[in-house]
Amino acid sequence: MEQINPGKRDGFTSKFGIVAAAAGSAIGLGNIWRFPYVVGESGGGAFLLVYLSFILLLGIPVMLSEFIIGRKAKKNAYGAIKSIAPGTWWPVIGIMGIVAAFVILAFYSTIAGWTLHYVYLSISNGFKGQDAQALENLFGSFMSSATMPLFWQMVFLILTAGIIIAGVKKGIEKYSKILMPFLLLLLISLCIRALTLPGAMDGLVFLFKPDFSMINPQVILSALGQAAFSLSIGMGALITYGSYFPKSTNLSNTAFEVSLADVLIAILAGVAIFPAVFALGMQPDGGVGLIFMVLPNVFQQMPGGYIVAIAFFVLLSIAALTSSISIMEVVVAFLTEEFNLKRKHATVITLIAAAFVGVFCTLSWGTFEHVSIAGRNIFDTLDFTASSILLPLGGLLIVLFTGWYMVKGEIEEELTNQGVLKLKLFRVFMFLIRFVAPVAIAVVFLNGIGLF
Ligand code: TRP
Repeated sequence: MEQINPGKRDGFTSKFGIVAAAAGSAIGLGNIWRFPYVVGESGGGAFLLVYLSFILLLGIPVMLSEFIIGRKAKKNAYGAIKSIAPGTWWPVIGIMGIVAAFVILAFYSTIAGWTLHYVYLSISNGFKGQDAQALENLFGSFMSSATMPLFWQMVFLILTAGIIIAGVKKGIEKYSKILMPFLLLLLISLCIRALTLPGAMDGLVFLFKPDFSMINPQVILSALGQAAFSLSIGMGALITYGSYFPKSTNLSNTAFEVSLADVLIAILAGVAIFPAVFALGMQPDGGVGLIFMVLPNVFQQMPGGYIVAIAFFVLLSIAALTSSISIMEVVVAFLTEEFNLKRKHATVITLIAAAFVGVFCTLSWGTFEHVSIAGRNIFDTLDFTASSILLPLGGLLIVLFTGWYMVKGEIEEELTNQGVLKLKLFRVFMFLIRFVAPVAIAVVFLNGIGLF
């Protein structure tokens, strides 16, 4: 394989590897688990419309800004901002990112653990002959138990740490680029099955027909949080990945391609889920367990459903892994570069800390079901803190930093690869990151938390 990025610092090596790694970060549980259940709770089509506008007007500009910062500075998120803006308070963005990384790792590994358990259940034919009600009960008693969810969560966190220790080229890139196309194919086949179930139309109407009476400031904030979470933006994961890109990477094309792939997978997940939800007579607002309750029904009604179920949960677990490594990498790159820790030591420290927070999160429906913070259990509190507070604020600071602190010439250099590429839509980009994104994020955020 062509070595675009020789030299000492570990980095990605091929063009496809770069897009695949960034897409691997973006595409994960956020698209397939979180997107359908949040759409379901927020009333469907109108949410989708707001979500898509946020991806286009705020998400892509923030993503591109992260790539610009990362590749310019070639450092971890905190170190990158510090090297561009020494002696200022801007590196606080990096510190917020570290906090967000732990919060997200904690609840992400809970759901990834559920996914691993569902790999096990599909191999052991655990869904066979169960009707919709029985599958709901199966999930309900699993999520509120302690042993298995914790076991699988730890397996997932250790797998993540293992890939992180293997390093960027051998680890992240290798795993990302082979498997994602398979996930796409499987999703398409699930969509076909779901769409041919009797009563499927109602699901499509729910997903695509906007009912604006469902929109309120909380729903708008939740759409912003979902857009940020799904694109992996707002906490420096893409600054960190950007720092591994070679000088020849076309940053704007990469941001477009990754966002497009991300949106496509989320919508396909929606088309696979909602027709099935309505065909089965279930409720779309089933919450965090939605896909785990609905999809086993669909698998049972497919030819080869046994194999499809296994393949689906295996691939979803891998998609979750390529995302969680991008979250853990933020902390590990920070610890190795700022504190001179060995990669291995930094990873083990991060793993232990994430596992500690993660345990409380996984027990949110069992041991700690009575713990409630402003009406939310531990899991929902962590998810809300990350998606609706830390990521929007992080995204806001990142566009302000790029738009108002960085010198225009520096941005141009990164976007054109030192004059090699043509500068396209530069004015639009600058206008978005200077005015549109900051104002929109601030208004949505303040409204959504009720301060405005
Ligand atoms: N985007 C991933 C998903 O959709 C999750 C993720 C990976 C993430 N890295 C992130 C979310 C950084 C926020 C920030 O599953």
